Amino acid sequence: MFTKAVIPAAASTALLTIAAITPSQGTSPSPNFAEDIAPIIQKNCLPCHGPNGIGPFDFTTYRKFNQHIELIRIQTLSRNMPPTHSSSDFGQIAEAPPLTDQEIIALQGYIRAGLPEGQPLLNPISGPQKHETQPTKVFKPNSPLPSRAEGVMYWQTATFPVAEATHLTSISITPENPRIVRSAQFYVASPGTNLKLIPVNPNTLITAPGVTPLGAWAPGFPTWKLPPKTSFTIPKGSLLIVASKIQPSGRSQSTNFSLNLTKTTQPQPNAAEIVSFRNSNFEIPANEAPVITIGKTFTQPATLIGLIPKARFYCGVISAKVTEPNQKTRKLLELDRWNPFWTGNYQFTKPVNVPAQARLEFNFTYYNDDRCSMNEFRDPETVVSGPRWEDEVCEMHLLISRPR
Ligand code: HEC
Repeated sequence: MFTKAVIPAAASTALLTIAAITPSQGTSPSPNFAEDIAPIIQKNCLPCHGPNGIGPFDFTTYRKFNQHIELIRIQTLSRNMPPTHSSSDFGQIAEAPPLTDQEIIALQGYIRAGLPEGQPLLNPISGPQKHETQPTKVFKPNSPLPSRAEGVMYWQTATFPVAEATHLTSISITPENPRIVRSAQFYVASPGTNLKLIPVNPNTLITAPGVTPLGAWAPGFPTWKLPPKTSFTIPKGSLLIVASKIQPSGRSQSTNFSLNLTKTTQPQPNAAEIVSFRNSNFEIPANEAPVITIGKTFTQPATLIGLIPKARFYCGVISAKVTEPNQKTRKLLELDRWNPFWTGNYQFTKPVNVPAQARLEFNFTYYNDDRCSMNEFRDPETVVSGPRWEDEVCEMHLLISRPR
């Protein structure tokens, strides 16, 4: 199960913090399901724990939610659920919103008070509005999904040839089985890219010359979408690559999805581009937890739409910050529990303007010790950067926008 899969170094600390806050809040009347808990479920859980969600349970009624209350207590208190751990000084990231301290306190208060129902709800809680998109292409795998043991995830890549220059404004996918196709990542391979160089099992990333990551998608969350008047031009002859994360159910089930693209006929006034930073020559000694920093001073002003971090299983924390010419530093993104199986869409809900001469810095913390699940059944060994799944990577790709 993913919650145990990767180094949740922050889990125990988060638990202590919340436990310490709770008593001082004890005087308020106890929260009830209808008024206090249902809105939290709707906003934070139903993208995945609805009737057809990717999560294991359905939380749409008082009775169904309470059936799992002990697990819910643990999962929310440890901040394992919702499964995202990002924050920023620049407003919300388009990814799953984490629970606030107040929401966790409300849930704990509700449980301590003996699950008061309040005014019974007439209808099941309904999930967030789904937006409609036109499927442009359905990907069908060549052979049906082989039966595999529960829990063994793998990545499947599909390529879509781009026959004419395309001015993209959004991408998402609609899986036939949302519980099987758990998330997806989008890449563009420029014309003439040697696809044989792409690792067969990308394990959340395709690093190959000529291949640029565009972003990610996960069910129930805001889709990969550019701000108004902005488009990303994919040149004629490129390939759009979708790497989808497959969670086999043990039965033979379809891994098909439709790819939903919105595009404009003309390029928009602002061009979206990817600017990449990477360190591809590093070593992580056994039993060490180094921080690897990459970054750059921007000579031109830039408008930042989102960030696409790339790392594998040894990585625990990823942070990005901007230092303005007046030395003021602000956090662009902090992922306090990086998990390559749960990479989301780290776009800002409002683009961030970065002035000229600002320095962008990205810090990746790697745990090559017993905090990392890779070392669960063996002594840590030196890890190197590279393409194999047991290697590491350190990459940050910025989705920026510039006037054409
Ligand atoms: C992004 C989708 C997503 C969101 C949002 C989400 N969950 Fe989950 N949740 C999952 C998935 C997927 C699993 C199954 C974990 C696995 O297969 O490893 C899960 C598992 C769980 C479990 C079972 C854990 C166990 O030990 O078996 C609980 C309890 C849970 N979620 C509670 C919640 C609550 C409460 C919320 C809202 C506050 C929430 N989740 C929000 C996707 C989500």
